[in-house]
Amino acid sequence: MIKVDVSHAIQKIDFEGYAKKIEEINRAIDEKTGAGSDFLGWANYPETYDKEEFARIQKAGDFIQKNCEALVVCGIGGSYLGARAAIEALNGLLPTNKVKILFFGNTFDPDYGGQILDYLKGKKFAINVISKSGTTTETSVGFRLVKELLEEQVGKEEASRYIFATTDKAKGALIELAKKYGYERFVLPDDVGGRYSVFTAVGLLPMAAAGIDIQAFLDGAKEGMKEYDTPTLNEAYKYAVARHALYVSGKSVEMFVTYKLQLVQLGEWWKQLYGESEGKDGKGLLPDSATFTTDLHSLGQFVQEGSKVLFETILNVEEPARDVAIPHDEDNLDGLNYLEGKTMDYVNKKAYEGTLDAHVSSGKVPNLVISVTKMDAFHLGKLLYFFMRACAMSAYLNGVNPFNQPGVEIYKKNMFHLLGKPGF
Ligand code: PA5
Repeated sequence: MIKVDVSHAIQKIDFEGYAKKIEEINRAIDEKTGAGSDFLGWANYPETYDKEEFARIQKAGDFIQKNCEALVVCGIGGSYLGARAAIEALNGLLPTNKVKILFFGNTFDPDYGGQILDYLKGKKFAINVISKSGTTTETSVGFRLVKELLEEQVGKEEASRYIFATTDKAKGALIELAKKYGYERFVLPDDVGGRYSVFTAVGLLPMAAAGIDIQAFLDGAKEGMKEYDTPTLNEAYKYAVARHALYVSGKSVEMFVTYKLQLVQLGEWWKQLYGESEGKDGKGLLPDSATFTTDLHSLGQFVQEGSKVLFETILNVEEPARDVAIPHDEDNLDGLNYLEGKTMDYVNKKAYEGTLDAHVSSGKVPNLVISVTKMDAFHLGKLLYFFMRACAMSAYLNGVNPFNQPGVEIYKKNMFHLLGKPGF
């Protein structure tokens, strides 16, 4: 169902040479003995998740679907990217479900903030505020703005029925607020970091509100858990080893490529996962992403003939959810009748095959290909678990802690100082 093909990697990858390391690292993940092991709760989460909370998530999702025109998800980084990636991957760019899912609390951009508030004016909407720390400024500012509008529109008491807080189970400013006003609460477990949190309420509640089958999503993740927790070279570890081998042989950029516009946000999630997990101690591949064929008309030139800093990782979705046939045209002035009766997917696949050959054979750009049968909730759950497990393996192969992000604090300190926050 998920296969990794390294036959276009240009260099030979010595998988056998990694066998001992894989065994050691897999044991360190299972026995929680590696760096950052306090944050390994995600590894078994698809099996150990709180079933009572899951039922409440489903119920809250139904409530939002029944009663609201929009859900505003307030969160940043790991507290929104997974949900956004999953919703877009499964529902597409022009979704037909009734509830519009908006993402806010991820920016200080006033133009976007103003548009969000204008859009919500007069609408029936709910808020899911998501923050593990409860103190992230972008999220707190965004939440304050939409909460004020909601309270203005329906009154403070009624508003509290439409606000759902996903946060730490015991500490932080958000939990105090949630307790005071009686918001329904969901937990981001202590031992799960933001970028590994998509299988918790962080990902599940927005997805449920978007009408996605979250049980199938978790079932897929569970299958991934069974398949990728092995002391031997499974497909996730094959990907981890291949990208590590390309890194040590001198590549510094990994470009994550898909041929589907609705996977742009999956690329954003993937970039955070790998960028924050590996980019430390002066090490790591720079994760970049592109959507082909769209970006072949922009970045394609660089990939083909630019400096040889990168390799590509192609996510190849074998079966599209739907397909569209190209019609006959009497005039044929566009010269396209040779494609008559062929489908968009057929053309997309030929573009993929042609590009793979162009980039590898003449561009000398190594390509790794990850193929997934289709993009439904089950396969997506499995795929996200695949990437998380591969990421932990890959970071440990690089000798870094996959679960911390000390570097992101520095900008915050400077910003707080400039804003005059007490204590800074
Ligand atoms: O992956 C991470 O840990 C980060 O991206 C956090 O999720 C992000 O900074 C948001 O933090 P919080 O959930 O505490 O608001």
